[in-house]
Amino acid sequence: MHACARQPSAALGEIERTASGLVRTHTLDVTDHAAIDALAEQLRGEPIDLLLNVAGVLVTTGFGKTNYETWMRSVRINLFAPLKIAEAFVDHVAAGEGRRIVTLSSVLGSIGGNAAGGMYDYRSTKAGVNAVMKSMSLDLARRGIIAAPIHPGWVRTDMGGPRAEIDPQTSVAGMRRVIAGLTSADTGRFFNYQGEELPW
Ligand SMILES: NC(=O)c1ccc[n+]([C@@H]2O[C@H](COP(=O)([O-])OP(=O)(O)OC[C@H]3O[C@@H](n4cnc5c(N)ncnc54)[C@H](OP(=O)(O)O)[C@@H]3O)[C@@H](O)[C@H]2O)c1
Repeated sequence: MHACARQPSAALGEIERTASGLVRTHTLDVTDHAAIDALAEQLRGEPIDLLLNVAGVLVTTGFGKTNYETWMRSVRINLFAPLKIAEAFVDHVAAGEGRRIVTLSSVLGSIGGNAAGGMYDYRSTKAGVNAVMKSMSLDLARRGIIAAPIHPGWVRTDMGGPRAEIDPQTSVAGMRRVIAGLTSADTGRFFNYQGEELPW
């Protein structure tokens, strides 16, 4: 298993130490396309069963206060990176047994589910990555790869905050179940961590 993070951290080091060599960690900024290509090259020939895009940022400004620079940073991280990483690692995934590419999206990217307005920047990057995952699911079906976005729930992380509905363990356990259960009939569909299908 390989885990990437923007900066080396004590937590990643601890994972590597306690996982008996089963997890290898890598420093990777997902906006650095050359570094993504270099890592894919470094791992060439290693099959990957599940490619999971997790990194994301939530920066929001209200109508009339749009900050196009922070929005573009969100676009690079939330929208461009999952596609770039999939492009770089598609051969690794095709060589794996699981053949899954999953991106953590958000219900806030659901246009059909938007009843509150606002959050133009975050919503648009997640709606965008949903479109990316849908196209990817069609393009990669012939290679037997399942591609889908997933909503992790409102989770008590740095992003979700302390008032969020569920803890990370509940979210991760749910996502693991949903991802493991995905079949070719589910590729290009948008589920949450409980396996409920969400509107685009
Ligand atoms: N929490 C929620 O309620 C919720 C709900 C819906 C969707 N999501 C989605 O779930 C995913 C995980 O969110 P989270 O709650 O764990 O957020 P988080 O607590 O803010 O963590 C985000 C992670 O992304 C990393 N990251 C940011 N920019 C990066 C970059 N350029 N390169 C590499 N890594 C980068 C951060 O690294 P640093 O620590 O180095 O900054 C951090 O580890 C995100 O895609 C988010 O949009 C979360």
